Amino acid sequence: MSLLITNIGELVTNAPPDAASVAPAGPFEALADAAIVLEDGQVAWTGPAAAAPPADEVVDAAGRAVLPGFVDSHAHLVFAGERGAEFAARMAGLPYSAGGIRSTVAATRAASDDALRANLGRLAAEMLSQGTTTFECKSGYGLTVADEARSVALAGEFTPEVTYLGAHVVPPEFDGNAARYLDLVCGDMLAACAPLAKWIDVFCERGAFGADEARAVLAAGQAAGLQPRIHANQLGPGPGVQVAVEAGAAAADHCTFLSDADVAALAAAGTTVATLLPGVEFSTRSPYPDARRLLRAGVSVAIATDCNPGSCFTSSMPLCIALAVREMRMTTAEAVWAATAGGACALRRTDIGHLGVGARADLVMLDAPSHAYLAYRPGVPLIAGVWRSGQRAA
Ligand code: NIG
Ligand code: FE
Repeated sequence: MSLLITNIGELVTNAPPDAASVAPAGPFEALADAAIVLEDGQVAWTGPAAAAPPADEVVDAAGRAVLPGFVDSHAHLVFAGERGAEFAARMAGLPYSAGGIRSTVAATRAASDDALRANLGRLAAEMLSQGTTTFECKSGYGLTVADEARSVALAGEFTPEVTYLGAHVVPPEFDGNAARYLDLVCGDMLAACAPLAKWIDVFCERGAFGADEARAVLAAGQAAGLQPRIHANQLGPGPGVQVAVEAGAAAADHCTFLSDADVAALAAAGTTVATLLPGVEFSTRSPYPDARRLLRAGVSVAIATDCNPGSCFTSSMPLCIALAVREMRMTTAEAVWAATAGGACALRRTDIGHLGVGARADLVMLDAPSHAYLAYRPGVPLIAGVWRSGQRAA
């Protein structure tokens, strides 16, 4: 069964990412007056609409833009409860702190599997309807062996990109005894979670875990077969980015407060993506990082939502693209690349984030003639259709 989508005003294809490196392998690429053929869940052909081959089914895009589905490489969706009052207090002047995580931990521990599954399913559907065809999902609100194990298991029901984040914060029952909690994170908790996860993550930040602790967590995860990624330099300058580069992490996420040495380390390594999370700066009223500084240095940049009940409760990649353009000084093309191919690089995936022949047929049709409208018309629901593995999904 083949599907031809034709009469596409702008078809964003991107160059396929390089399997050997996560550095910016290929730039933003787009074709005007284009068509695409999907077959067996993959992209079978792209080119000028006038040269399109026949197919079993035809969709007329009527001049609309078609893009790779968004790849949201950073989200925390396994949780219960909400923190709307914390957000309101923050907007009234209170600062954001890592401590708020504990209130979600309490609610998550008290929730049934079905309640957590229902919340996760609702958020996954919300993402899909906004054009996200792949998302990463972390544990990190359970923080007991059983609650972390069920968190990664639940995440795995919705995505293959599952991250074990037992090292999110030290839970209250280990107050004053972080070392003993880390033994658990790197011991029994890791043993229970590793078979169900692809990634290991740690929140390397004042109020969470320091450089040596983060190194130990990532090393233990790697020894158990997980690949490293990290929460780094979110609330202030710190060692997170350097730890990420040393560990060969696929991504250093947040990167809100970077020194020149951090930028240089990311550029020199060329294998760690800087994932920017502009929704967090928006929702915590923090200064936005300057994406231009990273791009100028040759660092590969991804954009993700960080969807979570505390620091940023948006699931919208279009909003994050608009913020990255307006507030982080990215061009519209750079932001769309970062939200598609950049996210794929951050997950070390070569089958998504682009629409080259052989890529997974994950794509989004906008109710607009070009990708630029994602930032040009912020806050407007522009997603006219979503295909996942070649099937209409939204
Ligand atoms: O990515 N930084 C650590 N974790 C989340 C926040 C989680 C929360 O506030 O509940 C983040 O921002
Ligand atoms: Fe996060």
